[in-house]
Amino acid sequence: MYSSSLTTKLNIMYPIIQAGMAGGITTPELVSAVSNAGGLGSIGAGYMTPENLRTSIQRTKERTNKPFAVNLFVPNEVSASEQTIKKAAEQLQPFYESLGVHLDELPTTFQQPFEEQVTVILDEQVPIVSFTFGIPPQETINKLKKEGILLIGTATTVDEAIAQEDVGIDAVVAQGSEAGGHRGTFSSPFEQALIGTMSLVPQVVDHVSIPVIAAGGMMDARGIMAARALGAQAAQLGTAFLTCLESGTKSVYQEAILTSSETDTTITRVFSGKPARGLANTFIRDMQKNKTEVAPYPIQNTLTNKMRREASKQNNMELMSLWAGQGTRMSKKGTVATFIQDVVEQYEQLAEKNSF
Ligand SMILES: Cc1cc2nc3c(=O)[nH]c(=O)nc-3n(C[C@H](O)[C@H](O)[C@H](O)COP(=O)(O)O)c2cc1C
Repeated sequence: MYSSSLTTKLNIMYPIIQAGMAGGITTPELVSAVSNAGGLGSIGAGYMTPENLRTSIQRTKERTNKPFAVNLFVPNEVSASEQTIKKAAEQLQPFYESLGVHLDELPTTFQQPFEEQVTVILDEQVPIVSFTFGIPPQETINKLKKEGILLIGTATTVDEAIAQEDVGIDAVVAQGSEAGGHRGTFSSPFEQALIGTMSLVPQVVDHVSIPVIAAGGMMDARGIMAARALGAQAAQLGTAFLTCLESGTKSVYQEAILTSSETDTTITRVFSGKPARGLANTFIRDMQKNKTEVAPYPIQNTLTNKMRREASKQNNMELMSLWAGQGTRMSKKGTVATFIQDVVEQYEQLAEKNSF
């Protein structure tokens, strides 16, 4: 499988990046297995406390001496009236009740411990940091780069990619609309930034000089080869790793992905306040049907947190967020090592055939 100038910079064998996926998916076992197999594993630290992030980094280091990344959420301003928060919470009560729990106290603080997470990354000398939801403060960029840490941004439009390059980010993920999980969009209404990977990647490649990483809908060597043909130097896969045995994905969630098709996902703000792609379920359908008011991120995310945790405990898929991309029919269950080995073999067969 071909290397690129980015694989050299990242010091990895194959141009395969496992997306940082916040919410308990990127266990030290998953991240280290990807790095040990020649790709780049990433810890999805978006929701982690600084203490949990430190533990996660240390446990990953115990399992691999290869490079891995940490993925962070760039914080955004939090503003919503007490009234909005109260109303959003009230509308969640029936879902809470259906699980036999209550949303007792309304949260008043909405943590986004970004700076503390950055301190942990510097302490632990993590070699690569990726970001989503925006551009980090210039001071943070300078601090990380001074320590030789390689920075990867996320863009969903050409302008967002140019903005990343302008502040000194080293490589950019071009996230197509097929992608599972949250949209990384930060500079335009998200509906305008739903560009498919096939259109987005070459346009980004044409307008920036930093390496581009394609993301969205790639599940095997065919997608990765296509992304390389479009000019991407690597591919970032999320959904494909959810069904790997080392991931922290609950088994009901894995089964839902393995039995779903390309028409089963939708983009919704109802779980977190930010648009994200996942398998449609009762919570999404009911909230959309009732035209329920949704608080902005991260307030809505905090309000649904206990509901999602309880639903997960009860294996109730209808009230869990089941983030997934549009390629789920290609999902397979197995170990990370087998997945990466199969991708590499398939890639080499395709290259050998040279039939197109
Ligand atoms: C379950 C899940 C959680 C995700 N969480 C994050 C995250 O925390 N940070 C991030 O930058 N991207 C996140 N993403 C998006 C990925 O970075 C990537 O854009 C996407 O997975 C690519 O599309 P695919 O899922 O079709 O492979 C997530 C994706 C999924 C499926």
